[in-house]
Amino acid sequence: MAKLNQINVAVIGAGWVGGIRAAACRKNPLIDQLSIAEIDELRAEELKKELKLDQITNNWIELADDPGIDAVVISMTPETIRFPILMEFLEKGKHVFVEKPIASTIAETDQALQLAHKNNLKMTVGYSRRFDPRYAYINKALKGGLIGDPVTCLISRNSTRELGEKITGRSKMSPTSIAGVHDLDFVLWAMQPRKPIRVYSQTSGKLFSRKSETPDHQWVMITMDDGTTITIGIGWILPIGYPNYVQAFIEIVGTDGTLTIDDSHKDIQLNTTKDGIRYPLSSMPGEQIDHVFAGSMHEEINHFINSIVFDTPVMVSAEEAKLVMQVYQAADLSVELGEPVSLPRNDFL
Ligand SMILES: NC(=O)c1ccc[n+]([C@@H]2O[C@H](COP(=O)([O-])OP(=O)(O)OC[C@H]3O[C@@H](n4cnc5c(N)ncnc54)[C@H](O)[C@@H]3O)[C@@H](O)[C@H]2O)c1
Repeated sequence: MAKLNQINVAVIGAGWVGGIRAAACRKNPLIDQLSIAEIDELRAEELKKELKLDQITNNWIELADDPGIDAVVISMTPETIRFPILMEFLEKGKHVFVEKPIASTIAETDQALQLAHKNNLKMTVGYSRRFDPRYAYINKALKGGLIGDPVTCLISRNSTRELGEKITGRSKMSPTSIAGVHDLDFVLWAMQPRKPIRVYSQTSGKLFSRKSETPDHQWVMITMDDGTTITIGIGWILPIGYPNYVQAFIEIVGTDGTLTIDDSHKDIQLNTTKDGIRYPLSSMPGEQIDHVFAGSMHEEINHFINSIVFDTPVMVSAEEAKLVMQVYQAADLSVELGEPVSLPRNDFL
């Protein structure tokens, strides 16, 4: 029987998402050894019971220094302190998959991009929507001209305040920079080769603002270079009660038709006398249910591993991730200025 060309992988930060990534890695026959760095002892113990792990440490540097490790998945939070970890793994010659955003600034993104290029490494970002078949279909249909020329696109995405509190508790990033980036990446990908030229954004805050400077919701309106308009709304204050629940609606209108996705995740409902109605399974990352995975992270991780083993391009390039960053920075600047911001700009850091 032919031998598999296996690689060894490390996951840094095995919380909710990192745990799903690690479980997806464990199922991949192209991965031999799987190591984890996790500072939460209880979580590390939990994963030790669930997965066959080759190394567990609370110090990620040990894994960066390990010459046997070929690739890393960086899923630790907060996002704002990931950059040194990303750079250390690239420096040590490991291929990198990092959760969005790739870094906190454009300058850091450029540094990481240059280092990955210099060391001939794959580097990609966890824009998981591209691995959801519905979103992949929209991309294919748009690029194939199925609705003619796109005229306008509307995306509205809201998560529970439970998730909102978790996210806003760890950083002061805007709704677009932390959650809307998924939609920005998706829509900029599907609209290629069109480029964004103008961004206007407004926020509204009546709930989280009682305790912090975090808005509850942000609308971003983008004009593309061919005149297509894109409107993306991101909020995180839906009522508690649906664990990890996110609902999204997408409508794209073109000269010859429309494309819509109802991603409201109401297709699976659990109603119990104890808890009432629940929508089980997270609608964004998905998770493992016995022998199958819900959601897109399994495919996403497999794609990353395949791109290393078979030396094929990654789906989400660092350059595309940089464009997403430029658009959310423009949106946040627009909120601050109260006026539209033109792109490209060369003063974003
Ligand atoms: N692609 C998607 O659909 C999607 C969905 C949700 C979240 N995310 C992203 O995934 C990332 C993780 O989110 P999460 O909800 O899993 O967070 P989480 O808080 O559940 O997990 C983060 C983990 O990192 C660990 N950690 C922190 N510092 C560490 C360190 N120095 N070394 C090792 N471990 C460390 C924490 O103990 C925790 O277990 C975030 O960046 C988030 O934006 C992506």
